[in-house]
Amino acid sequence: MSRASATELVEPAPRGQVLARILSTGLRAPDHGKLRPWRWVVIDGPGMEDFATLAVRAHAARDPEARGAELDRTRAKALRAPMAILIGGRILSNHKIPEIEQVMSVAAGAMNLLNALHAEGFGGVWITGAYTADPAIAAGVGFEPPERLFGVLFVGTPEDGFRAPPRPELDPFVRHWPPHRAPAGGLSD
Ligand SMILES: Cc1cc2nc3c(=O)[nH]c(=O)nc-3n(C[C@H](O)[C@H](O)[C@H](O)COP(=O)(O)O)c2cc1C
Repeated sequence: MSRASATELVEPAPRGQVLARILSTGLRAPDHGKLRPWRWVVIDGPGMEDFATLAVRAHAARDPEARGAELDRTRAKALRAPMAILIGGRILSNHKIPEIEQVMSVAAGAMNLLNALHAEGFGGVWITGAYTADPAIAAGVGFEPPERLFGVLFVGTPEDGFRAPPRPELDPFVRHWPPHRAPAGGLSD
């Protein structure tokens, strides 16, 4: 209930057995057909500089007009955390398990990672944008078809501690069916 994405992330990031425990929760995601589609790439410490360089080169290649300040912003964004866990998936086309079910399993695994990060006292945020839109990033970190890159979890410790944003009320998101069997007092009783 208290998990929230954290965008300002500093050291420490999880490492060693704690990181292994966090990643292992990803393997507990539901997985139709036991396809085990999860593929994670961990980028840590000095590797983040290489990741930032990859992001800047990709930006410059897709937009040769990009000014220095824009590329500096791309670099700074890629360096926003001491660690990144790239959310990849091995997605099989023309398989009896539809692609969307494979992708949902990858996403469920990513959600387990975010919850586990929080439970272990760390923070993270799931970012897509150019990282997933530009195939040069996926290729640059070693994802090759049928592997795809679905997001970047930036990982570390929330700089300002944990701040849970307000969440919406439950009622608009839940319907009971058939309606006449709905609990009389709603779910709040
Ligand atoms: C698939 C996916 C992609 C996202 N991509 C971005 C992104 O590129 N940039 C961004 O600012 N937030 C992105 N978000 C939203 C944040 O990860 C986060 O969920 C949002 O800021 C709300 O914070 P909360 O998780 O505490 O509710 C994405 C979320 C998901 C599920």
